[in-house]
Amino acid sequence: MADPVVASRVPFPVDVEAGKSYWWCACGRSQKQPFCDGSHKGGPFSPVEYRASATGKVWFCGCKHSGRAPLCDGTHKTLA
Ligand code: FES
Ligand code: FES
Repeated sequence: MADPVVASRVPFPVDVEAGKSYWWCACGRSQKQPFCDGSHKGGPFSPVEYRASATGKVWFCGCKHSGRAPLCDGTHKTLA
């Protein structure tokens, strides 16, 4: 399986609303980071749903290599 594109080497802070769904870009090709804009089409990646359980700020992974995607787990610090 191909590696995702590193869209950003830092996470994206986003204010989310409880109960709302957000579609995180897993491929790294979206121009609307950290969310999917359909650019994954034809490739091996699909967007990942994040359903907010609470209203507040969350940190979406920008590097696309997080072990707990769609949220950042600090893996971006270890990328070459
Ligand atoms: Fe990246 Fe859709 S554009 S998953
Ligand atoms: Fe991807 Fe932090 S931005 S793990």
